[in-house]
Amino acid sequence: MWRVKSLDAILATAEKKSLHRSLGPVQLTLLGVGAIIGTGIFVLTAAAAQKAGPGMMWSFVIAGAVCAVAALCYSELASMAPVSGSAYTYTYAVMGELLAWMVGWALILEYAVAASAVSVGWSGYVLGLIENALGFDWPDLLQAGPAWSMNGFIPTPDFSVGIVNVPAIVVALAVTLLLMIGTTESARVNAALVAIKVAALTAFIVLTLPILKTGNFTPFAPNGLFGESSGMGIIGAAASIFFAYVGFDAVSTAAEETKNPQRNVPIGLIGSLAICTVFYLLVAAGAVGAIGAQPVLGSAGEAVQPGSPGFIAACQLAENANRLVCSNEALAHVLREIDYPAVGNALGTAAMLALPSVILMMIYGQTRIFFVMARDGLLPEGLAKVHPKWKTPYVVTIFTGIAVAIAGALFPVGQLADISNSGTLFAFFMVSIAVLMLRVKDPNRRRPFRTPFVWIIAPLSAFGCAALFWNLPHDAKMVLPIWGGIGLVIYLLYGIRKSHVGRGLVEVPELDPDAPHGPVPPMPGAPSPTDDRRD
Ligand code: ALA
Repeated sequence: MWRVKSLDAILATAEKKSLHRSLGPVQLTLLGVGAIIGTGIFVLTAAAAQKAGPGMMWSFVIAGAVCAVAALCYSELASMAPVSGSAYTYTYAVMGELLAWMVGWALILEYAVAASAVSVGWSGYVLGLIENALGFDWPDLLQAGPAWSMNGFIPTPDFSVGIVNVPAIVVALAVTLLLMIGTTESARVNAALVAIKVAALTAFIVLTLPILKTGNFTPFAPNGLFGESSGMGIIGAAASIFFAYVGFDAVSTAAEETKNPQRNVPIGLIGSLAICTVFYLLVAAGAVGAIGAQPVLGSAGEAVQPGSPGFIAACQLAENANRLVCSNEALAHVLREIDYPAVGNALGTAAMLALPSVILMMIYGQTRIFFVMARDGLLPEGLAKVHPKWKTPYVVTIFTGIAVAIAGALFPVGQLADISNSGTLFAFFMVSIAVLMLRVKDPNRRRPFRTPFVWIIAPLSAFGCAALFWNLPHDAKMVLPIWGGIGLVIYLLYGIRKSHVGRGLVEVPELDPDAPHGPVPPMPGAPSPTDDRRD
């Protein structure tokens, strides 16, 4: 189980791909901005405020800084092995099969659960539009899943607040259908969606900053730096709002298509993270300054986690109805509160149009990870069957889409984002260690991009990821070891025997590692027809 897949075998797969190096620093930065901005800023701003109050502005900075150092580590490996599977593939080459499997298994949390979180975020905006712009009263019990609390180790639902989130199911299945019939988003659609998102956030900043009231910034950190319970305070909010930055790995994975990656990949990564951080800070300042961001308290005056039964009860009180922290469509809500209902609806429309592309990217990323794991024999190959007409991996796509829809139907956005963060932070932690191990084990291998000051940056990244993980809410933190335990059992029952590396099967490089079971195109060296990758 410690066997590694040699980097040369991995690269043999990549070399056949020969993608045209066309991306410059500006395109790469835009790619990053498009992949990053989503439910995090549009929706989770409310959850961050509930955890940290106005101090959430620091949370955005801290989460952005951890992402920046993790991104630099990620890029070195991505430029050395620009193939599918990201952190899973790198771990396979450096730390062996068992840890690679565990990382791949954790990436399911990153991608699939993130897709569910963004579906629920989308639902909040669509329901806001349906009720505010169309005046239609959508049944409460079909707006959200139940509230969950832990009874010992047993998650217990409370159906009085909601049964099922219908819009989240609809968007998850609609995106799945698009992916199944082979829709890939064109660069032009992507650019338009980036423009829509940036325009919406800019309008928000322009309208809220001039009316900022300094009094709304005090008390600045009502729950302190760490909060009394796990997952609260400024650091707890940073652990949750980390979600708002996820997606920057799209830039690293485009290293192979980048001109002069040594210079342009870090510009694209740090540039897109910096732009998003500035936008996020201004949006957070605008939201806090315009209507205030103080948390609601539980019935005994205690701090309560967003999404918890105590929080939901507090938000049902009439006096809290208009608070930022209670809104499911935070930014549109602020604009309505400051008497710009039409702009609020326009921002809601922008979110409604742009968020599905983030869901699409996440489900696509998930199917890609499943593919690579199936190609390595660690998952059943049947999962990656390609449809004869659509030429898409329909089995794994349906499977992923249904799982995403079920999670979106039943859980609140904040909990889903926290669970997704737990998987992502684990994967980034492993990448930070892998980059150092590879510097020692294989110092002379060509590195198109080298992490600067790696002996400082990589330990900082590993520490930052571990610290944020530690400050996630208790339940989200517990999901990773339980999920990991299930993964371990599956590996011991299945993967360990079926592994292609373990069985000594010769690696057969394919033109497109994203389509391991598709026909192998006849001309090595030419871009495959399926090479119009969105990332
Ligand atoms: N960063 C992405 C979002 O906030 C995942 O939706």
